[in-house]
Amino acid sequence: MPTKLHFETLAIQSTQLTNEDTKAVSTPIFMSTTFERAADGSYPSGYVYSRMDNPNRQLLEKSIAVLEKGEVGIAFASGMAATTAVFQTLPPGSHLILPHDAYYTTNDLAKTVFGSKGIQISEVNMTRLEEIQNAIRPETALIWLETPSNPQLSVSDIAAIAEMAHAVGALCAVDNTWPTPVMQRPLELDADIVMHSTTKYFGGHSDVLGGCLVLKEEGALSEQIRKIQAVTGGVPSPFECWLTTRGIKTLYLRVQAQTKTAGELATYLDQHPKIEQVNYPGLSSHPQHEIAKKQMYGGFGAMLSVQVKGSAAAAMALTGRLQLFTTATSLGGVESLIEHRKSVEGPASPTPDNLLRLSIGLENIEDLIADWEQALGE
Ligand SMILES: Cc1ncc(COP(=O)(O)O)c(C=O)c1O
Repeated sequence: MPTKLHFETLAIQSTQLTNEDTKAVSTPIFMSTTFERAADGSYPSGYVYSRMDNPNRQLLEKSIAVLEKGEVGIAFASGMAATTAVFQTLPPGSHLILPHDAYYTTNDLAKTVFGSKGIQISEVNMTRLEEIQNAIRPETALIWLETPSNPQLSVSDIAAIAEMAHAVGALCAVDNTWPTPVMQRPLELDADIVMHSTTKYFGGHSDVLGGCLVLKEEGALSEQIRKIQAVTGGVPSPFECWLTTRGIKTLYLRVQAQTKTAGELATYLDQHPKIEQVNYPGLSSHPQHEIAKKQMYGGFGAMLSVQVKGSAAAAMALTGRLQLFTTATSLGGVESLIEHRKSVEGPASPTPDNLLRLSIGLENIEDLIADWEQALGE
């Protein structure tokens, strides 16, 4: 497949697996857990046992890798399983730097599972380069980024931070779940690892969990992570891989449309007297708007958060008045969702009490604005 193709063409081409027997146009689902071995001991299909590899997973891994401009894709049963695999590569006693405002469970995983096993952890404000520089130690092995961050949408400078990591022999990994490769491709900005919760935009329909890591090239790190994938077994089923590859076929169109709507809703809410603050990197008032413009070449994504004037209770009550936004966790599906994050994350989280996180779906912008108008009007 020529990799010079445009993103949307690659998304279609990279998710087709022609079946030689049936010539089926839609890729079949290979549910078999085991594959026949020849009398000489070889495996003619290249597949042995589905935990190690299978046709649907391989197709998914290659597709996400090609879309992220990497060489290697390694799929897992969830985004958290993918993140766990990266943290499992850290040598005992090494040091991990995390954003203070990343997806809550990422920091929870690092601190509760890996912190107790001797990994040193620092949580820093990734928008301040000097804070990262001060946190770096001789044992620093990994700087983990999430940009825009969940749920405050702070933006960190991927290229600058990757350079800081490399200067001390550390790796830089980026959770690219929110922008997707339609908007931002961290490997092109010199990051070493991209992580996706494919549960979100890749799947796109709120009906399949998954995760994937993408690396620039094959080497010692990809070998180590593939080994972790095969022996720990936190892998997606063939059906889940199939659902995700099906989602990828419409990824480009969905994310483009959702982003356009998110931008328009952010602009509307930004001028509303009952909204204290809109967090969206596409607004010129966003504190890191210039960095976002530099590295989010496709647009600013379909996630935003708003801080409502008033208390947590006022914010929560607003979610009940919105009729077109379902109050639920998760994001990246075709339906718009809203969530009061602080009450989910707990009192220790840095998320403001009055913050609501919005995942914009494929509804018409006029309908969404009218819904906010009525909900804020009461
Ligand atoms: C930015 C981000 N990273 C990682 C995850 C975890 O992914 P999963 O739920 O697929 O394990 C999420 C889930 O909400 C997320 O929003």
